[in-house]
Amino acid sequence: MLEARGLIRARERSGYYVASGAHHPPPEPEIARLPPPASLTVDVSERVFSILQASFQPGTVGLGSAFPAPQHFPWNKLAQSLAACARQAQPQALLDDLSTGHSGLRRHIARRYLADGMPLHMDDVVITNGALEALNLCLSAVTRPGGAVVVESPCFYGALQALERLGLQAIEVPTHPRDGIDLQALEAAITTHQPQAIWLMSNFHNPLGSLMPAPHKQALCDMAARLQIPVIEDDVYGELYFSARRPLPIKAYDRAGWVLHCSSFSKCLAPGWRIGWVTAGRFTQGVARQKLTTSISTNAPAQAALAHYLEGVGYDKHLRQLRHILLTQRDAMAQAIAQYSHPAPAPPGQKAAT
Ligand SMILES: Cc1ncc(COP(=O)(O)O)c(C=O)c1O
Repeated sequence: MLEARGLIRARERSGYYVASGAHHPPPEPEIARLPPPASLTVDVSERVFSILQASFQPGTVGLGSAFPAPQHFPWNKLAQSLAACARQAQPQALLDDLSTGHSGLRRHIARRYLADGMPLHMDDVVITNGALEALNLCLSAVTRPGGAVVVESPCFYGALQALERLGLQAIEVPTHPRDGIDLQALEAAITTHQPQAIWLMSNFHNPLGSLMPAPHKQALCDMAARLQIPVIEDDVYGELYFSARRPLPIKAYDRAGWVLHCSSFSKCLAPGWRIGWVTAGRFTQGVARQKLTTSISTNAPAQAALAHYLEGVGYDKHLRQLRHILLTQRDAMAQAIAQYSHPAPAPPGQKAAT
């Protein structure tokens, strides 16, 4: 519990240490207080576009976008895999795995979930152009224009853009900075508004960073099965945990197939390669059909190269190093925020500065 709250850190083969900056952590944000959920038209694309444009200006630090620093990724190893696959490429192989994706890559992805405790068959995996395409395909597969979708408040701007593009209304549900979406408010919103889907992040929410506790994930799956509503889960940061084990996604608790789970290699291995995937439970056929009609298939050499890279033994070592770097950066950032942005506690007897 102390580790999850950022108060202590584990150091490999050494023990637990008080985290730097832990003495005066900034106060935890509170859950958003919202008016009763309403079904709202989404109109954000222009604003998102102008903010993204501004954040690409040289000299600007885009604190709102989650782009990992390129120097932390194994580019040489990936290039070697790409070169090896390009040399051995069989034109026929490019056609064999059309639409659902490279069978070797799908097998590796399924195996990794299995090793983490989530049984998954490779035939239930569809490879996509990054997680964003996976999420959009899911949304197209389970909604019709004019319908409504539950989103977290606040949520990843890409979710709002996807709703806007498909002419869908948004129903905002308050989301706690520690535990994720408020399940009571979610059930009330579903019964009042009859949305066509829920879109959320259970692990390392963007922008809140929240992590749904396992019993909440189970309760959400039970609710989805009872109310027969698809849950689109964005788990793009699932591999970037700082605890001893990967927190399982909601999908791991899904017995009835209502969860459409999306992720990618964009944040943890190969940013810019645009390789992601979806496992969509009872909606797999519909999502595969959406994939075929939107982009036919995903870049074949990039898929083969990632499968080749995953054959080797370097991925887990790379992930351990990356998590360590991100943890160090996260601590430095938290300390800087505490130091520069948060007013120091006033000495006894004096009023705090505002
Ligand atoms: C929360 C979240 N979901 C999805 C994506 C898109 O992932 P990908 O680059 O794999 O399409 C991002 C990228 O910034 C993100 O932050």
